[in-house]
Amino acid sequence: MVELIKDHLSYTLQGNIVHFISDEDQRPFWSKALNAYLTENHVDLRMRQRYEEQCVEMTKDAIHRRFVDFVSSVHGVKVDLASGPSGYFAPFLDSLFKEDTLIVTDACPAIISAHSSACDKSNFYVFDVDLNKELPFKDECLDIATGNLLNNLDNYALLVREVYRSLKHGGKFAVIEMFFEHGSKTYSRLKEEGRIWASFESFVEYFEKVGFTYIGGDVISTRKGKISKGDLYPLDENECWSDRTLYFQKS
Ligand SMILES: C[S@@+](CC[C@H](N)C(=O)[O-])C[C@H]1O[C@@H](n2cnc3c(N)ncnc32)[C@H](O)[C@@H]1O
Repeated sequence: MVELIKDHLSYTLQGNIVHFISDEDQRPFWSKALNAYLTENHVDLRMRQRYEEQCVEMTKDAIHRRFVDFVSSVHGVKVDLASGPSGYFAPFLDSLFKEDTLIVTDACPAIISAHSSACDKSNFYVFDVDLNKELPFKDECLDIATGNLLNNLDNYALLVREVYRSLKHGGKFAVIEMFFEHGSKTYSRLKEEGRIWASFESFVEYFEKVGFTYIGGDVISTRKGKISKGDLYPLDENECWSDRTLYFQKS
């Protein structure tokens, strides 16, 4: 795995964890806030159980199965971005060949530690890394990158360019993301803020500008209004939004 890391980049190894964040002041704000919440409330992430539940959840219908099959059919080096607490990538572990490598990434210490101890496969690693900065990988060394709901990363646009740089030619990028309707109030606000995920159309357009080819995807579900009262989006209760799977290839 260390051969994937850029030359001259400093890191420390701790079991299956690779720490790229050495100074706690450098830890991204959202990961710090999440860590404080999890530790102060003594939350047990029950990660092994989450992996088991997600193996069922992620294969519950044809759309989710297509996503899992797409990722599972690519072998080599796989990286999941901002892996978070859901454990949604668990089915990728089941289809991992012993020659493959799966790297999950986050910057929240409690989540990193939970993933580290939930899986003892020797080809599974957890990177403690700030994804708002350049990725630690050498050019053209990854076979596939994946992500589930990455829109609260501060620098999604840079991340897409960094994934492109790190993927081999023909490498894949499979994401699950939520989008607002093109032309809606929420879309206009996000567009003004320069968010690449303002709408499905703007997202695909950005990926294509970077060099990816959009090779397909599905609408998972469509909803109207906020899920919970405190949600920021959509700005208007009458607006619809959808979750989608999207598949891209480095041309
Ligand atoms: C972006 S969402 C991703 C949801 C996740 N894929 C899942 O399925 O649970 C939340 C996660 O992103 C992580 N995160 C947010 N900003 C980050 C950053 N700059 N670098 C690394 N991880 C980050 C948080 O620590 C949190 O675990």
